[in-house]
Parts: sequence; structure tokens; C-alpha cells
Amino acid sequence: MNLILLGPPGAGKGTQARMLTDHFGIPQLSTGDMLREAVAAETEVGLRAKAVMAEGRLVSDEIVNAIVSDRLDRADCARGFILDGYPRTLQQAEALGKMLAEKGRALDCVVEIAVDDEQLIERISGRFTCANCGEGYHDIFKMPKVADTCDRCGSKEFKRRPDDNADTLRTRLQAYYKETSPLVGYYFAKGLLRRVDGMGEIGPVHAAIREVVERCARR
Ligand code: AP5
Repeated sequence: MNLILLGPPGAGKGTQARMLTDHFGIPQLSTGDMLREAVAAETEVGLRAKAVMAEGRLVSDEIVNAIVSDRLDRADCARGFILDGYPRTLQQAEALGKMLAEKGRALDCVVEIAVDDEQLIERISGRFTCANCGEGYHDIFKMPKVADTCDRCGSKEFKRRPDDNADTLRTRLQAYYKETSPLVGYYFAKGLLRRVDGMGEIGPVHAAIREVVERCARR
């Protein structure tokens, strides 16, 4: 099953990708996470991406296309993958189509998670993650079951993203509407787009996405 999760910042792509990974046993490929790792490791890519990400702008197509192409070649993607945060421009979508064709693969479906802007701001401003395993949490919508302890790995360390602030979020939303939202039409025209209402709670949104994905798998 080869999937894309599409949606604005804070729509729940990362949250849902992790749940789909647990269910289907295929990896989450988050370009945001990969770039943050490169920034932390101070690699050449990380040094180029750092300031751009801090401002909420998009990293160059050339950099992210190369990262994704390498990642798709790893053995854990053999049974499928969940792309989270990629593609984000029409150029990236074209590049993805080309690289998949070269690898003898194709997309099965693109799930758009639709969420209102006001809700996005609320979700982003309350987000924090486990510093050890990356599990995502929220100050209101998803607190750890045991206070200050990660549900997934038991770690007691959490962190917040430097780009999760009101100013940067405005830039990220602008980038989404200008550069990424045209992908809705692009994948609709290819017959791959499935739209899911992302305004509900995490569990019901997950159930709706799983239903859509399982229907695509039966096609
Ligand atoms: P990236 O890391 O991809 O960030 P993003 O797209 O802005 O998405 P987010 O991670 O902010 O949101 P999400 O949809 O995953 O939401 P989440 O599940 O965490 O990219 C960061 C930066 O990297 C970009 O700005 C850019 O600079 C660069 N970049 C990355 N990819 C790139 C590319 N392809 N090209 C160029 N540049 C690229 O949920 C948010 C919060 O809400 C959480 O706290 C969660 O617990 C909560 N929540 C989730 N679902 C629900 C729900 N249903 N109800 C209530 N709360 C919920």
C-alpha cells in the first residue's frame, strides 16, 4: 500500500501516519522529521534547511526529492509506505511520479485530511512530542495517559518545535495554500484523491482514514 497523507500544518498527518504504521506495518516517511534530523545532526542538508524551516518556508524541491528517493530504496519500504508532508509542490509531485515509475511502483491513494484554519492554530499551539520516540501529544486533545510519561516508550522528556508559533504558522499556512493545495486537484484528476473530514477526534478520524485506505487496497 503506497499512500500520501495530504493536509495543512496541524491537520493530523503525523498523528494519523503513526497510527497507520502501527496498523498496516508500513513505514511513515515524514520529510519534516527527516529534515529536523538533518538539522540536529548539522549535515550539509541540515545546514541549508535550518533557517528556511525556522521561517516556515519550504525547503528546496531538489533537497527533499533527493531525501525521499533515497528513503524509498530502503528495505522497509518494500511492502509500502506512508508519505507525510511530501509532496508539497507540483514539482515534487511530478518528481515523485517519475521516481516511483523508475522504481517500478505506483501510488494507491492520496488521503486529504481537511481541517479548518482556526482548529489548525489550536492544534499547533498545543503540540508537544516525546523527545525519545517522537510520539505526538497535545495540551488539550491528547495528554499522556500517565502524567509526564510517554505512552509509547515511557520516556519523561518532551519537546516543542521551534516553528510552532503564531508567526511561523502564518507563513506555513500561506505556503500550504499557495504551493501545496494545488495538489488536491492534481491527484483528483488522476483518480487518486480521497477526502476525509479531519475535524473530529483522533480516533474517529483514524477510523475514517482506515476505511478509505482499505477500500483503495481492494480496488
Ligand atoms: P512538517 O514537519 O511536515 O510540518 P507540517 O506539514 O507543518 O505538519 P505538522 O507536522 O505541523 O502537522 P501534522 O499534520 O503532522 O499534525 P500533527 O499530527 O502533528 O514540516 C515542517 C517544515 O519542514 C516545513 O514548514 C518546511 O520548512 C519543511 N518541509 C517538510 N517537508 C517538506 C517538503 N516536502 N518540501 C519542502 N519543505 C518541507 O497534529 C498536530 C497536533 O494536533 C498534535 O498535537 C496532535 O496531537 C493534535 N491532533 C492531531 N489530530 C487531532 C484531532 N483529530 N483532534 C485533536 N487534536 C489532534
